[in-house]
Amino acid sequence: MLNDTARLIRALLMLTMSCFIVISGISQVNYESYILTPAPPLSPVINGPKVYAARANSPITYRIPATGERPILFSATNLPAGITLDVNTGIITGSIPQEGEYICHLTAANKKGKYKRDLKFVIGNTLALTPPMGWNSWYIHYDRVSDPIMRDAADQMIESGMADYGYQYVNIDDCWAVKVNSDDPIIGGKTRKPDGTILTNKRFPNMSAMTKYIHSKGLKAGIYTSPGPSTCAGYTGSYQHEALDAQTIANWGFDFLKYDWCSYGRYAGERKRKDFMLPYQIMWKELQKQPRDIVMNLCQYGFDSVWQWGATVGNSWRTTGDLGVERGDDLPGFYHVGFKNAEHWKYGGPGGWNDPDYILIGWVGSAHTMGEGVYTSLTPDEQYSYMSMWSLMSAPLIFSGDMSKLDKFTLNVLCNSEVIEVDQDPLGKQARIVRKTDKDFILAKEMEDGSLAVGLFNLQKSESPVAVSWEELDITGKRRVRDLWRQKDLNKTNHSFTANAPPHGVMMIRLAKK
Ligand code: GLA
Repeated sequence: MLNDTARLIRALLMLTMSCFIVISGISQVNYESYILTPAPPLSPVINGPKVYAARANSPITYRIPATGERPILFSATNLPAGITLDVNTGIITGSIPQEGEYICHLTAANKKGKYKRDLKFVIGNTLALTPPMGWNSWYIHYDRVSDPIMRDAADQMIESGMADYGYQYVNIDDCWAVKVNSDDPIIGGKTRKPDGTILTNKRFPNMSAMTKYIHSKGLKAGIYTSPGPSTCAGYTGSYQHEALDAQTIANWGFDFLKYDWCSYGRYAGERKRKDFMLPYQIMWKELQKQPRDIVMNLCQYGFDSVWQWGATVGNSWRTTGDLGVERGDDLPGFYHVGFKNAEHWKYGGPGGWNDPDYILIGWVGSAHTMGEGVYTSLTPDEQYSYMSMWSLMSAPLIFSGDMSKLDKFTLNVLCNSEVIEVDQDPLGKQARIVRKTDKDFILAKEMEDGSLAVGLFNLQKSESPVAVSWEELDITGKRRVRDLWRQKDLNKTNHSFTANAPPHGVMMIRLAKK
């Protein structure tokens, strides 16, 4: 029960939120003048990861991410046996029976030109060779999530152009199962069939049909459950049903599982490392038995330094509590989550990534009230910092705002091909912390081609210079400097680089030798 003060605080919060919607409606329009990135050319460009991982014989669905005026005609040479390309949609399907590495040559062509790029299929036991990219329902739909919402998100991922930059996972978070002990006819009822098979609530009448729909667009589908008897929002969890739930999730056609600690705490024995690992080991083992690839995301908020062992039982692991409830001070909450996640830079790599949680921009609902979406209160510069930091940290790029209200500014932040390329670099190194003071924060990420991606973040409330020397970056000689947000070459420089960075903003650059 809420006491009077809590009720008053909540009423004030709701009032502030509704005023904010009006104000934010205005700022959203102004944000457009702050778009830094030029529109992509009308001729085709192939984006997204340069490597695709799968296990032998697992079904593959991959839509080649490409910008440019449609129709685009796709072609491929050297495709390994077992997979085929739909030349009109650019969707690759099938399965590859033999383990190994296969480099194929893709071409995208339209009236304006042609673009070629290689894609390497790595068929073996490691998935997620680059950080997963996609969308998750939590911070906008909470316990309102439904089958039509998920289908609509898949539609929007294509129509908005996000998929052309590599976003591909369409993931349901909590609240698809039956709510334990609820008599609500829509979300309550029997939690499992007599044979133990988990049941969905009435908002998800046919999971297989839903994933089929998502796959038909060349996208992938994700789902959520908990090792405890109930999820964080009180829906059925997988406790003592792990094998059956892994099978069901695979039968339904899912490609991704977020496994959220939630109510598991009381079964965690002495809370030693083995106790923290156990529930993830169990589910990981069950997932390996399935005839399809399911990428697993550990969600246990960083317990027991999960970054030290997460890669043995999953493909990514949340390093902190929920970003949506992280308190800001002078700096917004995402900065604090980012600072913590950045410290674990040595542990992220191909197949196992530090996960600082979702990208909360655009229209997002309060996690405190599980509210309806309001337009973000982050300034444009803070949003550039957010996306830059996540990309430099090789974080999964999972947007969790409203897919049906994607404005131009939000899309510009989410879809800069050169920024995403930093995140998706096949070397898979997370940026190291070059400097962290009260005034500035500098991250540097080694790229596969020998270049260095650098983020110079200004933590102050006024525009300030942020400088970095080659000595700090551990490089020498003349470097070509590219401004990644503006996709523009700057002067070549020796010894050091200084940027005038906006309040809480960033200059994100790539330094190349030639
Ligand atoms: C936890 C997770 C969130 C979300 C909710 C769902 O809080 O950290 O990301 O999945 O549970 O209830």
